[in-house]
Order: sequence, then structure tokens, then C-alpha cells
Amino acid sequence: MKHDAPRPGHDSARKAPPVPRLEIRNLSRSFGGQLVVDNVSLKVMPGQVTCLLGPSGCGKSTTLRMIAGVEMQDAGEIHVDGNLICDTVFRVPPERRHIGLMFQDFALFPHLTVGENVGFGLKGAAEAKRARVEELLGKVGLLRFIDEYPYSLSGGEQQRVALSRALAPRPRIMLMDEPFSGLDNRLRDDIRDETLDVLKAEDAAVLLVTHEPEEAMRMADEIALMRDGRIVQQGAPYNVYNAPADKQSVAFFSDINVIRGTVRGALTETPFGQFLAPGVPDGAEVDIVIRPQHIKLDLDRGGRGPSPTAQDGVAARGEVVRARFMGAESLVEIRMDYDGSILKATVPNVFLPAPGKPLWLMIRRDRCFVFPATD
Ligand SMILES: Nc1ncnc2c1ncn2[C@@H]1O[C@H](COP(=O)(O)OP(=O)(O)O)[C@@H](O)[C@H]1O
Ligand SMILES: [Mg+2]
Repeated sequence: MKHDAPRPGHDSARKAPPVPRLEIRNLSRSFGGQLVVDNVSLKVMPGQVTCLLGPSGCGKSTTLRMIAGVEMQDAGEIHVDGNLICDTVFRVPPERRHIGLMFQDFALFPHLTVGENVGFGLKGAAEAKRARVEELLGKVGLLRFIDEYPYSLSGGEQQRVALSRALAPRPRIMLMDEPFSGLDNRLRDDIRDETLDVLKAEDAAVLLVTHEPEEAMRMADEIALMRDGRIVQQGAPYNVYNAPADKQSVAFFSDINVIRGTVRGALTETPFGQFLAPGVPDGAEVDIVIRPQHIKLDLDRGGRGPSPTAQDGVAARGEVVRARFMGAESLVEIRMDYDGSILKATVPNVFLPAPGKPLWLMIRRDRCFVFPATD
């Protein structure tokens, strides 16, 4: 009978893969001959937050509007729970898509109370509506304002009322377009966290549009990085940050340093020693990209620097141009002896060497990215 014993994972291995709450396939849209959304595909699971992250004008809002049904795609399909809701022929109208919307310039109805605002889209018996309104206002900590009018609330409180209103009809999907950008910084962090808690508890699939990497890192289970209408990379925040697709992707998240090199035998010689450039043909140029927090600084010891190591390669000498205290870290700019270029390094806490002071720099091998040179 031993072979009949249930194996761990046996059931789940046989189950069909989970169906995404929202899936868009090969969505495209042009305006006046300009391709604004270019073959975008994306899945969002229930209870998950996916951030569509990219610079202003890259097509994020247009993508969201097509999902909401207020903009029509030129090509591609939208599915909810595995069912087609929109292609170029068939189209479920926006009001029947069970999608909640939240935008930066949300507007509460000024002549309705907070409770009436939240209950606005709800149908059914008054008691059930009231219960749902109270439940949501309780979750966002605003139950005491239920009979007040919106003007008496702060910006952050109004934002939470708008969130409650969007969530009241239990949308299958929440689409949020830069919903926090109207709030001041300190307030924003708290409201982001609260919003996330409420969204998770409601089990909606969330597609959040933002141009701010920090917001995406803070909120997202998955980040879809968008540029020029295309998704260039998609994955968990850790992976998108630490295994970027290209130089621009690194630069979108942080300051970068770039060291140009030429490849010989899958290696690039630099003043910091050799870097691997697997698969790059001889004579081709590569960019070694390194974030300021991954440059190591060392003091000059009578004209000499630290000894080479496997992890950090060879040290190269430079002189401090400028050092600034940034709060959690210090930013030091160094002019390099080898070619006069300036590299930026950040150091935790306070490190403010005087201009002209010699320093030795090393580069963490496992923290740099080598890409074919693109310009
Ligand atoms: N209705 C429209 N008519 C013409 N151009 C538009 C329209 N909507 C958006 N665009 C253009 O499409 C591009 C992408 O816009 P959008 O999706 O709003 O970008 P994002 O939200 O990423 O900032 C922009 O260049 C914008 O000017
Ligand atoms: Mg936008």
C-alpha cells in the first residue's frame, strides 16, 4: 500500500494552472500614425498588485483606458477570469466589466456625504449597502466621517474615501492611475501602505500605473517596466532591479556609472581589471554599468590603494570633486586619474572627504551589468 500514500504536492501538480484575473494579449493602439501602445501582454492574478512602471508618455494610461473600456484598441484581446471581454470585434461595455477605477484627480461628489459617496455605485437593499459602506470606511479608518461632507476632510482622507468608493461594488479588477501623486510625500507613504492592505483584503487584481520606481518597488508584487509603448521587462521587484534588461532599465531605477570597454576573448580590460563579456564578439564595445552604492571607496595609503581581490577586482585612483550629505547616505563624485571621467559613489551615513583628496575605487563584480554598447 506504500505506493498509494499521497505524495506531497501531488494534487496541486495535477491542477490546471491558475487563471489570471486579468490578462491582456498583444494590445496595440496608435494615435495619428504614432504607435503609443505596442503589442503589450500582461497578466494579473487575484490578490496581486502589478505595477505598470515607465516614464511619462510611454503609454501607461492608454493601456489602462483600453482595459477599462473607455479607449478602443487597434489590436489585441482583454480577458477577465479566462473570458474574453474585448477584442477588435467583441466588446463588453465599461460598466459591465466589474472594474474599479482610481485616478490622481479623483473627484468626490461635494453635495453627498462621505457615506453617500462610498455607496454611490452600490445597488440593492439599503441595509446591505450601509453595511458595505461601514465595512470599507472602517477598513480605511474613516467611519467617524460617514455623515460629514468631503470638504471637511484632508486630501489624504478624501483619497481614502475615493478608494473606498472604487472598492465598494467589489470590483474584480482595480485600475489605478498615479493615484498618489496628488499627495505630499510623508502622507503618501502611509496611504500607500494602507491602500495596499485594503486592496489585499479585498482580493481584487490590481494594475497600478506609476512613473515612480520607489512607488512600484513599495507596492508591487510584479513590475512591468514600460518604455516607448512596449513592456521591456516584467518580474518581481527584486529581479527587475537586480537583473535589469538593459542600461536604460538600470538608469530608470537609480543613478548609474558607465565604463566603456572593448571586448577581446569574451573579456573587457578596464582600469578596474577584467570583466566577463560572454557571447560578445571580439572588437565590440560594451558598457559596464554600476550603481553608485556598489562602488567601494578606500583611502590612499602613500600613493597606493587596496590589493586586488576576486570580488572587487583592481582599485583605480581618483580625486574627490564634490561630496554631499544626503541624509541616509553621502554622495561622493570622483574624477578618475585614468581618463578624467567622473564616477559617483554613495556611502552610508556621513563621509565627506574634501575636494582634491585622493581615493581608490573598486567595483563589486557581482553588482555590475555588462551590456553591448548602444550609442
Ligand atoms: N487621445 C489621444 N490622442 C492623441 N494622442 C494621445 C491620446 N492619448 C494619449 N496620446 C499620446 O500617447 C502617448 C502616451 O500617452 P499616455 O498613455 O497618456 O502615457 P503615460 O500615461 O505613460 O504618461 C503620449 O504621447 C500622448 O500624447
Ligand atoms: Mg498617464
